[in-house]
Formats: sequence, structure tokens, C-alpha cells
Amino acid sequence: MTWLITGGAGYIGSHVTKAMADAGRRVVVLDDLSTGTADRLPDGVPLEVGSVLDRDLLDRVIRQYDIGGILHIAGKKQVAESVEKPLFYYRENVDGLRVVLDAAVAAGVGRFLFSSSAAVYGMPDVDLVTEETPCLPMSPYGETKLAGEWLVSATGRAHAMATVSLRYFNVAGAVSPELGDDGIFNLVPMVFERLTAGQAPLVFGDDYTTPDGTCVRDYIHVEDVATAHVAAVARLEDDPSASLVLNIGRGEGVSVHDMVTAIRKITGHEDVEPEARARRAGDPARVVASAELIHRELGWTARHDIRAMVASAWAGWCLRHPEASA
Ligand code: WQD
Repeated sequence: MTWLITGGAGYIGSHVTKAMADAGRRVVVLDDLSTGTADRLPDGVPLEVGSVLDRDLLDRVIRQYDIGGILHIAGKKQVAESVEKPLFYYRENVDGLRVVLDAAVAAGVGRFLFSSSAAVYGMPDVDLVTEETPCLPMSPYGETKLAGEWLVSATGRAHAMATVSLRYFNVAGAVSPELGDDGIFNLVPMVFERLTAGQAPLVFGDDYTTPDGTCVRDYIHVEDVATAHVAAVARLEDDPSASLVLNIGRGEGVSVHDMVTAIRKITGHEDVEPEARARRAGDPARVVASAELIHRELGWTARHDIRAMVASAWAGWCLRHPEASA
């Protein structure tokens, strides 16, 4: 069976594409290359360049490659941008998903995986976030992911399609320097950028009600995220009635302070003290996954620790910013 991977040339998508190819799966990538690049794909993986909103293109690709399942990873993922451009986010993330699902149903594609996000939870007031924790997204981005999950489940039920939605927590790291994250929108690359410029890393808020006063998150290596997709694909193939929504996290809370300390150590910048700044609007104090359900359902557990995430992310950063290691 051939799997279509939308967004398969992006940061997370290219890791999933590689993991699927390494697992011996036949895959085809559809990507508009807005953030992804063709050179992220393993040799021999076909790339179709275009938008998930292009129904004719989807129909042609699904027919031409005889697609049996879809991993829908394409999407916009910047929280702040979604506040500025909600219409754009709903179009790309919700309309885009609807067009892909519509094409899948029309062609009788029976397996569907959707990339969701911990952003669906908003500010959860619990120690470990389970899939039963109420979803109260705080940004248009989180809303589009929650609406997407509903659309996927409803379509699966109505059209006998096996479905899995995966809620990613804080993804970091790379399997090789070339596949590192190009964006500077999250804690790890933002600290790298400051250190490279000879500036102190910024800590947004040190007066939270957490053990060291800084926000706590669940960081997960992108290679682990990718292997979770491979496990979900096996489940979709074996279980035509699958209808799952699963967290992808490690179940271990790491504070901004601890993360910055690990980054300073691993990058050789231990001498640079971080600077505390005001809280960033909308940041929850603590968001840490319960990783129980995904372990029970898919037999999957994360393998990589914070050190592996930071060291591999730094190798990718140095490849794109040679001045960083000079
Ligand atoms: C982590 C912590 C910051 C930069 C977002 C989305 C989420 C998911 C992952 C996609 C926060 C603090 C950051 C800095 C800092 N994305 N920080 N100094 O906000 O937890 O999650 O990305 O699905 O949906 O909301 O991630 O990496 O931006 O921040 O102190 O220079 O680091 O305030 O507490 P976040 P992040």
C-alpha cells in the first residue's frame, strides 16, 4: 500500500517521511514548499508540489499512486501568526483538511492520520494532561487543530475510515543536521539565536507557580514523533475501525530554566547567564502529557532525552549558522 504524506517536506513531515521509508513503506509526498524543501526527502520518494487546497491535484495524486492511506501533516503552526491571521489559519488548516478528506472519501481511501497539537488543551489545570482533559484552545491555531480533530473523527465514523489524530507536545531535535528545524519560533532555536549573537537567553516569566518559577513543558524528540507515526500507520492498517486521539509526549515536565541550563551546557555557553523578562501573553504555567494511552494503544514510548534533543538541534543549527560554532 502507498501512503500519501502531506507536508512531508517540512521539519516534522520530513522526519515522518524518512521513518516511513526506513520502515519499508511506500510513500509519496505532497508539499507546497512554503516552509519545506525538496532536499529534505530521502532518495526515491516522489514529491508532488502543490497545495492541499487543490482538489484536482489531490484527485490526480491519489489515483496515480493508488493511495491507500493519508498522513495529513501539512498545516500552519505559529500561534502568534494565527492571532493576526485567523482567516488564513482556518483556510489552510480547516479548509485544507476538509478538501483532503473529501478527496479521500471520494477515492475510497480508508485510513487517515491527522497532525494535531497540545495547543488544543489551552491552559490545562492538571499535572498530566490526558486525552480526557477538556480542550479549551486559546488561539486560532489551537482552534483549527481541535476543529480538525472533530472533522476527522466525524468523517471516519460516517465513511468507515480508520482515523488517528496525534497531539504533538513540544517538538525539538533532528535525526541529522540537514533535517533540523529552520524556524526560530520555539524555545530551543530562540535560545540558540541569542547565544550565537553573543546575547543572554531570555526567560519569559520566572514568577509562575512552578518549582523554579518558569514554565514547564513536555519536550519530545522529533525522531520519537516520527516513530509514533509509523506505529499509528501499523494500527490503521490492522484496525479498520480505529478512531483514536493520542498525545505524543514523554510525560516528563522540563522547566524553561532547566532547558536553558541544558542548552548552555551542551553548546559550551555556560558562562552566559539567562535574563528574566515579563511573562509572554497566553503562556500556561505547565503543560505535560500523560503518555499512557499511546503506549497502551500503539505500544509506543519515547526513547530520546533532553540531551539528545538539544545536541541534535544544535548540530542542525551550526550547519545553517556556521558562525555559531566558530
Ligand atoms: C516554550 C516555553 C515560553 C522562548 C508552542 C505552541 C504549541 C506547540 C509547540 C505546535 C514557554 C518559553 C520561549 C524564549 C522563553 N506547537 N520561552 N524564552 O508556547 O509551549 O508551545 O509550540 O503545535 O502548540 O503553543 O512553545 O517553544 O514557544 O515556548 O522563556 O526565548 O519557553 O514562554 O514557556 P509553547 P515555545
